[in-house]
Amino acid sequence: MDNRPIGFFDSGIGGLTSIPYIMRELPNERIIFYGDTARTPYGSKSVGTIRDFAFQIADFLDSQNVKMMVIACNTITASALDALRERYSNIPIVGCISPTARKAARIFSPEDRPGLIATKATVRSGAYEQKIREYNPRLRICSKACPALVPLIEEGIIKSEIMDLTLKHYLDDFIKENDLNGLILGCTHYPLVAENIRRLYPDLKILSSSKEVAMAVKYELEKNDMLAGERSGENTFFASDLSDSFVNMIELILGQDKEELNIKFKNFEI
Ligand code: DGL
Repeated sequence: MDNRPIGFFDSGIGGLTSIPYIMRELPNERIIFYGDTARTPYGSKSVGTIRDFAFQIADFLDSQNVKMMVIACNTITASALDALRERYSNIPIVGCISPTARKAARIFSPEDRPGLIATKATVRSGAYEQKIREYNPRLRICSKACPALVPLIEEGIIKSEIMDLTLKHYLDDFIKENDLNGLILGCTHYPLVAENIRRLYPDLKILSSSKEVAMAVKYELEKNDMLAGERSGENTFFASDLSDSFVNMIELILGQDKEELNIKFKNFEI
């Protein structure tokens, strides 16, 4: 049993999409979330920059005495998971890609045609292809980077014709040309537009990395006997820029009023 908090982080608000699963499945767990809203998006940045930013956030979470770090961001997982595990060898670190790839390998058969949508950095890394090959060598996926989605989502442009047109711009040909019947949302921001995707492409089977990373946290805590016995305090949500859109989005994702949430500002020297 371990009552210390779990540290979650993302380049912005995307990682928040994992939090409702944790709150539902593991209500005793205390969460410290860090969203680097001042520097988002990470997906079009270099591996070195993403790694440097990830170290700064992880150092901060480490200073908060977290029992586990959760990289609720595929881009950071693809670029910095190994480096983070090396630097914090005494803290379990859960990333998004293995759990999602494992689930993809289970729910899709070699006859299926799943596609991956993600940031440029995640697609460029080839991490999903590699992991899926490990879990199911006969399953093939094709990938598409969708770099305009994260900035629109961070701005709250979701239930909007602009979002639908952007999705169609990326997905119409990708789905048709590859004859896809499934879509892996390989970015934790994308569940926020899953409803749009379902409405535009109702026949696709959709898999979300946000849910899978949350399920992996539950599994790891249980396996290592690290579940919290009781709630040790309130959840805290740090952001490097407390813009109105961050506050609106956090309310929307968690379904709670900002007054009920412990939202704090914390940035880093660059
Ligand atoms: N939410 C992040 C992910 O899962 C990335 C967003 C970004 O480009 O910063 O990849």
